[in-house]
Amino acid sequence: MPENPVYNSIIERRTIRKFLQKPVPKKTLSKLINAARLAPSGGNRQPLDYMVIDDAALCVELFKYVRWAGYITPKGIPKSGEMPTAYIIVLEDKPVKSTTVAYDVGAAVQNIMLAAWEEGIGCCWQGAIDRDKIRELFRIPMDFVIDSVISLGYKAEAPVVEEYKGSIKYWLDEAGVIHVPKLKMEEVLRWNKF
Ligand SMILES: Cc1cc2nc3c(=O)[nH]c(=O)nc-3n(C[C@H](O)[C@H](O)[C@H](O)COP(=O)(O)O)c2cc1C
Repeated sequence: MPENPVYNSIIERRTIRKFLQKPVPKKTLSKLINAARLAPSGGNRQPLDYMVIDDAALCVELFKYVRWAGYITPKGIPKSGEMPTAYIIVLEDKPVKSTTVAYDVGAAVQNIMLAAWEEGIGCCWQGAIDRDKIRELFRIPMDFVIDSVISLGYKAEAPVVEEYKGSIKYWLDEAGVIHVPKLKMEEVLRWNKF
């Protein structure tokens, strides 16, 4: 096993929006949900459920209701032959009445994305989704809030991080590589005083 596998995945993980058309095994998808299930949860209330969609016809339907890469549209939208081969719909179980659900989602989704990355699987976590259409498509009861969707599949692109130089907008270069500006350490880290 490489040294620091978790840290390496954290550093290397990028949002992926182009996927190989090779199915993700059910066993691997279950492993991702196991990673989510074990995430920290406020008061340990565990208000989240996960719908895994890996049926090819359903994936085609769900693709219509997720939005891609606002800063580089339409070029950032996966084309035919690049679309996700699976999705995870993150649901909040309202009757559980958690007051930390947004934090819980963040921790669980990050667990999923890091566990996926380790398997060669890339994710695009999407909040820009048509919740009404998704509810209708899968007949999701009103007791569940549709939080977000994770589109996923084996990676078919390799976006790169670059130093922030005045704009936070990711951009596409001539070779089709996405560049993701990240703030510098000195812009986010304060040692011992504000
Ligand atoms: C809460 C949340 C919602 C997001 N929603 C979308 C989305 O609707 N569509 C999309 O293409 N990317 C979406 N993203 C991905 C971000 O654009 C991406 O994380 C950001 O550009 C930084 O890139 P990185 O993940 O490679 O570090 C979302 C990310 C987060 C955390």
